[in-house]
Amino acid sequence: MKIFIQNLPKAELHLHIEGTFEAELLFKIAQRNQIKLPYNSVEELAEAYHFNCLQDFLDIYYQGAGVLLYEQDFYDLTYSYLTKCAEQNVRHTEIMFDPQTHADRGVSFETIINGISRATADAEKNFGITSFLIMSYLRHLSEEEAFKTLAQSIPFKHQIKAVGLDSSEKGNPPSKFQNVFKASVLEGYIPLAHAGEEGNADYVWEAIDLLGIKRIDHGNNSLQDEKLVTEIIKRDLALTVCPLSNLALKVVDNLKDHPLKKMMNLGLKVTINSDDPAYFGGQVNKNYEAIQVALNLTKEDLYQLAKNSFEYSLLDDLTKQKNIQELDKYYQLNS
Ligand code: HPA
Ligand code: ZN
Repeated sequence: MKIFIQNLPKAELHLHIEGTFEAELLFKIAQRNQIKLPYNSVEELAEAYHFNCLQDFLDIYYQGAGVLLYEQDFYDLTYSYLTKCAEQNVRHTEIMFDPQTHADRGVSFETIINGISRATADAEKNFGITSFLIMSYLRHLSEEEAFKTLAQSIPFKHQIKAVGLDSSEKGNPPSKFQNVFKASVLEGYIPLAHAGEEGNADYVWEAIDLLGIKRIDHGNNSLQDEKLVTEIIKRDLALTVCPLSNLALKVVDNLKDHPLKKMMNLGLKVTINSDDPAYFGGQVNKNYEAIQVALNLTKEDLYQLAKNSFEYSLLDDLTKQKNIQELDKYYQLNS
């Protein structure tokens, strides 16, 4: 199964670039930028990666992102992630980035997007991996702040495919961002959002009804509401599930209790993703492996999950079909 997963062509649809920041690279860039970290070694930093909830994690994640200052930093971070994608047979990736996390330190939108885009272009050239960027609004900040970010993004909008909504979910419902999502859609961005990770099913309802999202990040708590499940299926919205993230942030106590297979059996379209791989103990293939073992998934399940990752990506139909044909060929030869 491990080899089957390793060579399985796949896409990753739920990934925060700031969450790919491995401790070693983080230390290297901190040193380069002469920023003092509250940790003395890579090991000490890695020791801090124990979380009881989403907020515990976010505090450390924002601290880590705080060493990113220059275009080259964003390039190195992104290229390092894409190198790992190449090693895992990830053919396409949709990368979230949080401009507001960096704006506070005076890092310009241009610096961030140029660094990330240069890395995605190089990865396409060197590894044949395609990438789209998702600009994510931080939901713990105001809608007014999100509007500022939207305005800053306009000169670069040809480089951005979608908008997302991330950070502290509870107390920050999707309804808070209804106006800025409407404005984002008018600019041509596809609307996406985290919903139902820690927030309940009501937040998922708001995200689909008020923000009109085309894909649900996490969505675990959709299962609290049968009508919602029916509606998600009717609207053909996929859930980007992140098993090791759910375990690390105690959304589930044990991977054996993870609802992924239940979701599939209900007819929901789900994909497997790493979310913040540097913090949650594994890249995308490790997520496939861990959930396969925990839920005893078959090769057919894994094939379906990989197929969903292309089908529910934001790629054009022709490119989706090309990727799926390759996947089908692989499955026929290896099942
Ligand atoms: N949830 C919310 N915000 C985030 C996450 C997440 O899993 N990762 C990075 N920002
Ligand atoms: Zn996420």
